[in-house]
Amino acid sequence: MKTFLFAFLTFLLTGANGAVAPFIKPCTLTDSKCLTSSATAAVPFIAPGVPALGIPSSDPLHIKKTNSDQGDMKLTFNDLNIYGLSQCVFKTVEIDDAKSNLHIDLECPLYANGTYKLGGKILIIPAEGEGNFEIKTDKVGFTIDVKYKTITDDKGDKHWKITGYDYKYDLINKVYFMLHNLFGGDATRAKPVLDLIDHSWKELITELGAPIIKDIVKDAVGRVKKFFLAVPLSELAQL
Ligand SMILES: *[C@@H]1O[C@H](CO)[C@@H](O)[C@H](O)[C@H]1NC(C)=O
Repeated sequence: MKTFLFAFLTFLLTGANGAVAPFIKPCTLTDSKCLTSSATAAVPFIAPGVPALGIPSSDPLHIKKTNSDQGDMKLTFNDLNIYGLSQCVFKTVEIDDAKSNLHIDLECPLYANGTYKLGGKILIIPAEGEGNFEIKTDKVGFTIDVKYKTITDDKGDKHWKITGYDYKYDLINKVYFMLHNLFGGDATRAKPVLDLIDHSWKELITELGAPIIKDIVKDAVGRVKKFFLAVPLSELAQL
């Protein structure tokens, strides 16, 4: 049984037809329902990384440093690890080939941790600290519009080349944001700041989380770009 299962998985993963991305179910470009389910089915194969296609793991996604300075507040995050991208679910995938536009709606759970350094004010309260932080939410929605053009490689295969993108995001479920070791671990001084964060999470994360979200989208689109350059269009779509 085990051997059979292994053989079956190997068959699925390597493909019977020598395809570069055998885990993709090709759809006609106008079939949004097929594109949506095909994209969701591909996530578990692409998120852990596809070394053969030069795509590194995206779960966790590592970000060295990001700055969330806002007015009176200086906030830096370092060595972020972002978990959850392999559990993203596509809600809509639509292609408008005449406009070379790929429209994506997806929802992801996210958990990120790393270290932070804060000085100045959070909203109106003076706050400072340095230590570990965590951000967690069950669901963030992303809407991404990707522009592409069709190019032909040396072998004569057509590919999509991503040329730009726009995105929006929506904090669907509550976001928990924890800064450990505020005021050098002084719990009495930290409490009003943590209460404020808990109370005003939406406003805060919309401002503070923006650079993190920007990096996540940039990285994710970068992977899709590599993927499209590596995989011929004929494997992605029934043209
Ligand atoms: C971040 O979370 C991961 C997974 O839960 C854990 O293994 C790691 O130790 C955490 N890192 C920090 C700095 O808290």
